[in-house]
Amino acid sequence: METFEMIKSRKAVRQYTGQISDEQLNNILLAANAGSVGLGKFEDYRLTVIQKPEVLSKLTGIYDAPTVIVVSSTNNGLMEGNSAGTIVHNMELAAENQGLGANYNMACLGSIPENVIPDGFKPLFAMTLGQTTETFTPRNISLSKIATNIVK
Ligand SMILES: Cc1cc2nc3c(=O)[nH]c(=O)nc-3n(C[C@H](O)[C@H](O)[C@H](O)COP(=O)(O)O)c2cc1C
Repeated sequence: METFEMIKSRKAVRQYTGQISDEQLNNILLAANAGSVGLGKFEDYRLTVIQKPEVLSKLTGIYDAPTVIVVSSTNNGLMEGNSAGTIVHNMELAAENQGLGANYNMACLGSIPENVIPDGFKPLFAMTLGQTTETFTPRNISLSKIATNIVK
């Protein structure tokens, strides 16, 4: 989809009908790697793709998603949180551009079992993901949804 149309079509999808393919996952991971991180320190971040039912069943607030991707970093400051945001946002756009359902997720972060995230990394932000029956068409976005002050 054309970029601006896709931006307007993106939405939180919380109902999933099946697992994504490895090809779809690779496209999403490519989008993650196209994101930005503060100071360009990509080595300070990790992506963890969780598709193992035993692990997924322990995660809270994931709406039975068959895939959860967690972004973690060596630190959990503002810089790292913001960087994780760019990564997850890129992934959500790439997922929904492929017709998949996706949603940002912080609810699961505190329930990730030990040894799932690499040692020394703290989970910052996640995305739930799966096939969906929802469709994506440009939404009517109001310019006043987020109050804006223009200083000029
Ligand atoms: C930082 C952040 C954390 C979020 N965490 C969750 C979450 O844990 N669970 C959830 O269902 N949605 C979560 N969301 C999704 C928002 O609730 C959703 O994007 C918002 O209500 C706007 O809806 P829209 O994405 O359809 O425009 C989160 C979004 C952001 C940006």
